[in-house]
Amino acid sequence: MIRVRVQPPHVVSIEDLRRIAKRRLPRVVFDYIDGGADAELTLHANSRAFEDVTFRPRCAVATSTCDLRTTVLGTSLSMPLILAPVGSSRLFYPRGEEVAARAAGAAGIAYTLSTLSGCGLEDVAAAAKGPVWYQLYLIGGRDCALAAIERARAAGYSALVVTIDTPVAGQRERDLRNGVKELLTRKFGQMLPFVTQFLAKPRWLASFVADGGLMKFPNVVIPGEGAMPYADVGAALEQSMVSWQDLRWIRDAWNLPIVVKGVHTGDDARRTVDAGANALVVSNHGGRQLDGVAPTLRMLPEVLASVGDRIEVLIDGGIRRGSDIVKALCIGARAVLVGRAYAYGLGAAGGEGVARAIEILCTDLIRTLKLLGCASLAELDRSFISIPPNWLASIRQVRAKRASRVGRSLPRLLESTLKPKRDGI
Ligand code: GLV
Repeated sequence: MIRVRVQPPHVVSIEDLRRIAKRRLPRVVFDYIDGGADAELTLHANSRAFEDVTFRPRCAVATSTCDLRTTVLGTSLSMPLILAPVGSSRLFYPRGEEVAARAAGAAGIAYTLSTLSGCGLEDVAAAAKGPVWYQLYLIGGRDCALAAIERARAAGYSALVVTIDTPVAGQRERDLRNGVKELLTRKFGQMLPFVTQFLAKPRWLASFVADGGLMKFPNVVIPGEGAMPYADVGAALEQSMVSWQDLRWIRDAWNLPIVVKGVHTGDDARRTVDAGANALVVSNHGGRQLDGVAPTLRMLPEVLASVGDRIEVLIDGGIRRGSDIVKALCIGARAVLVGRAYAYGLGAAGGEGVARAIEILCTDLIRTLKLLGCASLAELDRSFISIPPNWLASIRQVRAKRASRVGRSLPRLLESTLKPKRDGI
């Protein structure tokens, strides 16, 4: 396999990895990573929201070292970064999930394996040599999910990530235009108009064939039938609805930390706490599900106001730079998940690309902290940023609602909510 150069001057930012991935991958695969639902409003808004938050540095402060270590769900991580579940990673690069998990482990961060993966969960855990989380969809029904939960526990996964934003699949228009449905009919006549995109990428095609061709979903084992054949991820998501009731039996079966991913509002954040979850991810599925929901960063203050420190609050969506991570942490997130940022690296150059994506975010983080005059993550708070005032209106509503519900006086509540604030937000 030809080695792609991922060091400077070839790759300086995540956008550079995206550009290389676009060159190496067939259009249908690249667009699966890059695209979102409908008009892709939320997809773009996720990234743009970071521009609305600006820094307030403390200058002339010497910070020779920066401590990036943090703990999420009791696990120590080298930095506040977790690789998010990304389906079908084995189409991006041979044995893609193992390759990405190995790079995460080597960097001292956690990797989350999607149910819709091409590598067996045991192989991924063995490759990772670091913390691994398993993301659960209910595809194949309850027995199938229970079997995956058992396997994940036995293989050493330390948290279960339950995605709650897929009652149906979002309409990913790029997938439709690129012929995902037709390609998966496995009928030559229907596939034919769309196969040139593979022939245009002979190197990718050779590695895909050498890796075994179209993968199955080895972690979705249908009782009496075996591993589920590869399906359009959109079609698979149709069967993966998780309700609050499901969370009960999932929690009983798993009995280790549960992360609920796909929380958009303060109300659902509270339900997540009530359901007994240990962490939540403010997430709109990278703009791949309901287009038109607010960007995640915009919703983070409301979610934090709603749950306080009763649950660990994580966030994903639109993170492309270390400074984005710092902004999320200043608002109050404990850590962030990134999906596309590392998937571009995987598609561009396999493990080296993922390692480079992590390295870019890590060096960005250190530089940003130094420029802010902040020696450790623990010191980050909202005094280091300015937030648009209208983002805070929903916080006031949440606080007022909480105050009336618990019968506590508003002034006391205002004091106790959220992290220490020095800028009066
Ligand atoms: C899978 O979860 C996807 O969004 O494609």
